[in-house]
Amino acid sequence: MAKTYNIIVIPDPVLKQTAQAVSRVDTDIQKQMDAMLATMYAAPGIGLAANQVNLLNRVLVMDLARTDKGEEKTPICMANPEIIWESEEMSTMEEGCLSIPRQYAEVERPAHVRVKYLDYDGKEAELEASGLLSHCVQHEIDHLNGVLFIDYLSTLKRNMIVRKVEKLKKQNIL
Ligand code: NI
Repeated sequence: MAKTYNIIVIPDPVLKQTAQAVSRVDTDIQKQMDAMLATMYAAPGIGLAANQVNLLNRVLVMDLARTDKGEEKTPICMANPEIIWESEEMSTMEEGCLSIPRQYAEVERPAHVRVKYLDYDGKEAELEASGLLSHCVQHEIDHLNGVLFIDYLSTLKRNMIVRKVEKLKKQNIL
């Protein structure tokens, strides 16, 4: 089994920092991708960005497959992801985050995006995303820029969520 990381929870400053581009996808980055996937599957979650495991390089992983419903895993690994096109059409969906446990809120984002990135083999690749995948990839790229989904909410809602997570921490539920 691949190594796993501890997942950083708000309000840790690493979640507000900007991650740096990787120069290439070498075996160290591949090992990081493997460990991030293992961490994400164990959580369980559908996406994880490097900041969330206390690393500040531009690496993220995703998998939207419903393995709980018997679907095969479909891991996506990205280094240096960049949104090269986004639709004017917007989409609103409820989002959650492994760094903001048990809290959910509706977030509005471009409905469709095209993302350029380096894949697990270090090759240039592109992804066209709609629906949940579009929200997920935008949410994970936000992490690499130090942005959380609660940053899109009103101050009132954001503070409420932060307080709830702090309460869960105090009760040792996390
Ligand atoms: Ni997140």
